[in-house]
Amino acid sequence: MRYEIALIRGDGIGPEQVEATLKVLSKIKEILGVNFELVEVEAGDECFRRRGKALPDETVEALKRSHACLKGPVGETAAEVIVKLRQMFDLYANVRPAKSLPRVPALRSDVDFVIVRENTEGLYKGYEYEFDGAALAFRIITRRGCERIANYAFELARKRRKKVVAVHKANVMKLTCGLFAKTCRAVSKKYPDVSFSEMYVDAAAMNLIRKPHEFDVIVTTNMFGDILSDEAAQVVGGLGLGPAANIGDAFAIFEPVHGCAPDIAGKGVANPTSMILSAAMMFDWLSSKYGDERCRLAAKLIEEAVKKTLERGVLTPDLGGTASTSEFGDKVVELLSKLSEKT
Ligand code: IPM
Ligand code: MN
Repeated sequence: MRYEIALIRGDGIGPEQVEATLKVLSKIKEILGVNFELVEVEAGDECFRRRGKALPDETVEALKRSHACLKGPVGETAAEVIVKLRQMFDLYANVRPAKSLPRVPALRSDVDFVIVRENTEGLYKGYEYEFDGAALAFRIITRRGCERIANYAFELARKRRKKVVAVHKANVMKLTCGLFAKTCRAVSKKYPDVSFSEMYVDAAAMNLIRKPHEFDVIVTTNMFGDILSDEAAQVVGGLGLGPAANIGDAFAIFEPVHGCAPDIAGKGVANPTSMILSAAMMFDWLSSKYGDERCRLAAKLIEEAVKKTLERGVLTPDLGGTASTSEFGDKVVELLSKLSEKT
């Protein structure tokens, strides 16, 4: 199988993270023979500044022709780029793992859960109106939207520790969160082997700090998932470690959880882990979509090499170290070579 991967470098620290990740990708091609071609496309603030459009039609067309997209964070135009793409390509599951990594200063070292964030509706539909000194936003929650995200969460839980918690605020938003909760409950009946519980979002925010190791799969609506996933990344050491996958039935976009961090851009200090692990998630998705064993191995090796890099104390400044973005990437590449000799 030959893959076409669309690549968006993004703004701020995006291009630096992408640069480090590209070296990892070439190494993967070299050692495993995964056959892919990168097709570079533009989107984001810089693209808007030069061309007057944050998401040009040709970018959308290129994405339609590709098998997957790897994307760096974009700046102020993010809502015009990623939020739009999620809806346009119906990428309904935003999958955001939070997993403890070696030597990373964090609250605990035994955390391993995934946030499954509904990614196409809720407050992100963008239906906002101003009216006579008031402003209002529509929160759209559909049974179909809840059903498919709940199904996704339960299927994922089956491959993990078999625990799903639905996070909502149905005590206040009785109809919207009510529908979400009710639908998750109904879907849970199809999965008697998976334990199911519910938690209000405020309590979930607290429990992510108090007992993060107890979570397995969290399923929640769009905005709650956005907020909790930043918190989750910090629980395991920081935003620079957080990968994400925007997954639909036919297409998927892989990108870090975080934004483009303009304050540290261009200094070579950004942690590329979030981007490198997003690439691992991409290979993992390609492997299940196309039954490709080499992609599965690619995902595994990348994760392993990142872990080993951290184990050796190669840490970027966000984690208290002194390694630069490219030094970190180079170390991952070096360890990939070593790991491949063993397999
Ligand atoms: C994320 C980001 C985006 C979101 C922003 C940049 C529009 O915060 O992917 O979590 O809110 O979804
Ligand atoms: Mn966010």
